Amino acid sequence: MRTKYCGNIRIIDLDKSVVLSGWVNKIRNFGQFIFIDMRDYTGIVQVIFESDNHSAFKKALSLKNESCIQIIGIVKKRDVKNRNLKINTGEIEILAKKINIFNISQPLPLDHLNNNSDDLRLKYRYLDLRQLNLFENLKVRSQVTYLIRTFMTKKNFLDIETPFLTKSTPEGARDYLVPSRNHLGKFYALPQSPQLFKQLLMISGIDKYYQIIKCFRDEDLRSDRQPEFTQVDIEVSFMNSLKIRKIIEQLIKKIWFKILNYNLNKFPTMSFHEAIKRYGSDKPDLRNSMEIIDIFNIFNQKKFLEFFKINLSKKNRIALLCFSEGEKISRKKLEKYSDYVNQFGAKKLFYIKIKKYEIGIEGIESSIKSILNETILNKIINKTSAKNGDILFIIADTEDIVNKSLGMLRIKLGNDFKIYKKNVWKPVWIINFPMFKKDSVGNFSSIHHPFTACKKNHEKKLFNDLDNVISDSYDLVMNGYEIGGGSVRIHDVKIQNKIFNIIGLSKKDQKEKFGFLIEALKYGAPPHAGIALGLDRIIMLLRQTNNIRDVIAFPKTTSASCLMTNAPSMLKNQDLHELGINIIEK
Ligand code: AMO
Repeated sequence: MRTKYCGNIRIIDLDKSVVLSGWVNKIRNFGQFIFIDMRDYTGIVQVIFESDNHSAFKKALSLKNESCIQIIGIVKKRDVKNRNLKINTGEIEILAKKINIFNISQPLPLDHLNNNSDDLRLKYRYLDLRQLNLFENLKVRSQVTYLIRTFMTKKNFLDIETPFLTKSTPEGARDYLVPSRNHLGKFYALPQSPQLFKQLLMISGIDKYYQIIKCFRDEDLRSDRQPEFTQVDIEVSFMNSLKIRKIIEQLIKKIWFKILNYNLNKFPTMSFHEAIKRYGSDKPDLRNSMEIIDIFNIFNQKKFLEFFKINLSKKNRIALLCFSEGEKISRKKLEKYSDYVNQFGAKKLFYIKIKKYEIGIEGIESSIKSILNETILNKIINKTSAKNGDILFIIADTEDIVNKSLGMLRIKLGNDFKIYKKNVWKPVWIINFPMFKKDSVGNFSSIHHPFTACKKNHEKKLFNDLDNVISDSYDLVMNGYEIGGGSVRIHDVKIQNKIFNIIGLSKKDQKEKFGFLIEALKYGAPPHAGIALGLDRIIMLLRQTNNIRDVIAFPKTTSASCLMTNAPSMLKNQDLHELGINIIEK
């Protein structure tokens, strides 16, 4: 139905006869002539209808925007004054000889100029996807999965499918459940990840597994989270964390090179504790050069601790961020940032504006001026290398609050002052995570999933020092997004049992939920390690959008519904009855 694509016609095609199929992007009627911008996925070309060609002209008169048509015409050169160098086909136009109308479109419910609400875009997603930039997102996604498949196949990985109708694997979210008609009252869980199946494949001797696979998590959604998302899931036997990180690094470098023509350097590693200390986050955006700097020692005297209202019974931190655009921080902005850190628990945001450091204390403006003197100021300046024009944002509170608040403020300042340049890429491996976190009543839970091994030399601590066990896990972070996470796994049933006990899983639950894994680990389970990359987030980064929905063909809203199909929807009583389900009104 076509001999050429709209966006590919060039001056070398001059005087050729072409057949094009696509959509009417825009119509302009000049009486004797009608111009149409015709679009397919490759771009736009101008088509001209002359009134002498009665039959084609008459049909063109009936066209509406977004109608689907076929044009048979001749490629002509545009006059110099009519050239449009903004588009690739701007030097030529198509003189229409014949037009076939496949489908006249009704007026679209979406505005052509893109002033559409998110809800409307999602309701008419199939029309929204006609935008060429969204098309480009899906095209890059397809190119990336092709690259991944060729890379993994060359490295002898097997693409093996795992079930969707299965049992729950804990990845920290709620499960999506599917009722069973054959087993009334019983439910399958859609996998939050194929974690246990890929481990079982290692026990089967598969050696190298990968899969590009949907995962389902019922959790609070954000701009980088969807309830169903895609992982590049990987597991390898006889593997340690260093080697698997190397494979992933090669893969990511290849993707960045092929898609963006960008050469990534060797990925640095940083321990979890260092990341929290320096950036207040385990997914630091290293494009932002600001770091959290400790000044506790400078103020470690009773009178200062009292000034900062420090609760000595807790683990505290006094720290600051040094921001170079201090002159742009008005009183109003200071208040705004103070309110901002309040939501992370910080009682107060103190500041020092360095105006004329060389004249001493008179040369600064500060909310802690009453406790400052030249010596203290000098110490702060030495520690921070602050210069005139900088502002120091100080928080004194419990360690967790200071880390979180200054970490979030660091990100906010970065966004507000647009310090992130395009096409700068800063990957980092975060390693040496603690194995467990402890809640307020002293219960432990796994930081990664409970199948994660601890560092070999930390196994003894599982018996006497749970707070300080470090896991053999790794997260890959790129420009502040966690794009992957994985670990070395436990292959010793005794340690697996121990971990289940530590996280408070009763013997009954261990058997009921993970009996099959515990049994499998007894039959010669090999050492193994793995990782899962978040495909959607990788495409988001490559396409420089900060909304995950832009890279998914049919995404869900933040309340996990599909506005196009109206899923989830009510079932008829009869269907519910068949599943043995009664709906109780809340
Ligand atoms: P994890 O839970 O860290 O690990 O997930 C791996 C990666 O998947 C992406 N991701 C998401 N992307 C979009 N929407 C979501 N709701 C979402 N949740 C996670 C992130 C994340 O880094 N089984 C382990 C992996 C392993 O240990 O091998 C797992 O699923 O980019």
